[in-house]
Amino acid sequence: MWLNPDLVNNTVPTNLELRAAIERMPVSRIREVANKSMGLADVIPLWFGEPDVETPQFIRDAAVQALADGETFYTPNRGVPELREALAKYNSELYGVEIEVDRITVTASGMSAMMLAHQLLVEPGGNIVCPTPQWPNVKGTVDILGGDFRSVPLHFSDDDWELDLNALFDTVDDDTTMIFVNSPGNPTGWVMPSEQQEELLEYCRQKGLWLVADEVYARIVYGMPYAPSFLEHAKPNDRLIVINSFSKPWAMTGWRLGWLTTPSHLGERLEILNEFNVAGASTFVQRAGITALRDGEDFISEQVARYEAARDYVYERLVHHSKMRVACPKGAFYAFFAIEGIEDDLAFCQNLVRTSKVGLVPGSAFGAEQEGWLRLCFASKIDTLDHALTRLESAISD
Ligand SMILES: Cc1ncc(COP(=O)(O)O)c(C=O)c1O
Repeated sequence: MWLNPDLVNNTVPTNLELRAAIERMPVSRIREVANKSMGLADVIPLWFGEPDVETPQFIRDAAVQALADGETFYTPNRGVPELREALAKYNSELYGVEIEVDRITVTASGMSAMMLAHQLLVEPGGNIVCPTPQWPNVKGTVDILGGDFRSVPLHFSDDDWELDLNALFDTVDDDTTMIFVNSPGNPTGWVMPSEQQEELLEYCRQKGLWLVADEVYARIVYGMPYAPSFLEHAKPNDRLIVINSFSKPWAMTGWRLGWLTTPSHLGERLEILNEFNVAGASTFVQRAGITALRDGEDFISEQVARYEAARDYVYERLVHHSKMRVACPKGAFYAFFAIEGIEDDLAFCQNLVRTSKVGLVPGSAFGAEQEGWLRLCFASKIDTLDHALTRLESAISD
C-alpha cells in the first residue's frame, strides 16, 4: 500500500494547493487548547459545550430497538416522515403556532443544518451580518463558501449583553445576503428579546433579506419556559431559516441529529442539497429522536434546573471577584468573563491547563475583539465547578 510520507511522519504537507479558503482556515481555538492537553492527568475539562450526563436510557433504548428491528437502511434525504411529523408537532406546541411538516428537514446535527443553510444562501463576494461574540463555526462555514463575515459587536454592560439593532442595520449593504442571529447565544448566554426579534424580522421583510436563526439553545434558558423564537412571529413564507439540534436539550451531542425549519418552498432544494452532504441522518438515530421528543420533557426540566443552580453558583463566584467582569447568562450553559490583565488569552488557557489543570476556552475563539475573555461551560456538578474556580482564582491571585 502507498503511504504519504508526510502523513506517516505526522507533518502537514506544504504543497497541497488546496482552495485558498481552506488553506487559510485556522484550527478552532475551542479545540486547540483541548487537543494539546488531552491525556493530562487530573484536568477539569470545562472547554466543550456539552452536558456532563449521558443521553437518558429511554432514548438509548429506542436506538437499540430500532437497530434490533433492522432499521439500517437509507432514509429520505429530508428525514423519516414520523420524525418530521413529530418535529412539526413539537415546534407547533412549544410556540403555539402552526408549523406544517413541509417546513421541516432533518439534518445530521445542528452543524450540518448550519452548513446547509449557508450553502443555500452564502454567495462568494456576498456578506453575512452577525452579532458577535459568536460560535466560530458560523464564520468558518461562511469562509469555506467564500462569503464575507461581518460582525456587529454586542455591548457588554455589567448586567447584560445587548444588541444595538441600528448598528446591525448600518452594517447591512447591497451585498448582504443574510443576517445570522444565535439566541440564546454561545458564548455570552445573551437572549434576544421578543420585540427585537419582531423588529429584525420586519426589517428583513422590507429589505428582502434572509434571516438565519440558530436556536439550538432554545430550551436552555433561565426564568422562562423557552427562549423567544423567530418562529413565534414569522409567517410561513417569510425568508426565515431556523437551525435546531437534539444535542443540547436531550444530551445527545454524540448522536449528530438536528433539523431546519424553513419556508416549505425550500424543501425541494434541501432534498437535493442534503444528498450531497450526508444524504440523511442515521436511521436508528432518527428513531431515537422521535422518542426524545415524545418522552423527553421531564429530562429537559431536570437538566435545566441543574444548569440554573450551576449558573447561579458560577456567576456569584465570578461577579464578586475583584479582577473579573461577567454578566449573568440568561440562556445556554456558558459563563463568558474577562480577567483583568490577560493580554494573550490563548497562552493564558494553555498555561492554566498545564499548571492549574482547568480547561477553559480563550475568548478570542469567538472573535478578535474578545481577546482577554474566557469561556467556561457550567454544565457540570457544583463540586466540580467549585474545584475548578478555586484553581482558577489561585492561578490569578498574584
Ligand atoms: C451556537 C451553536 N450552534 C450550533 C451548534 C451545533 O450543535 P450540534 O452540531 O452538536 O448539533 C453548536 C454546538 O456547540 C452551537 O454552540
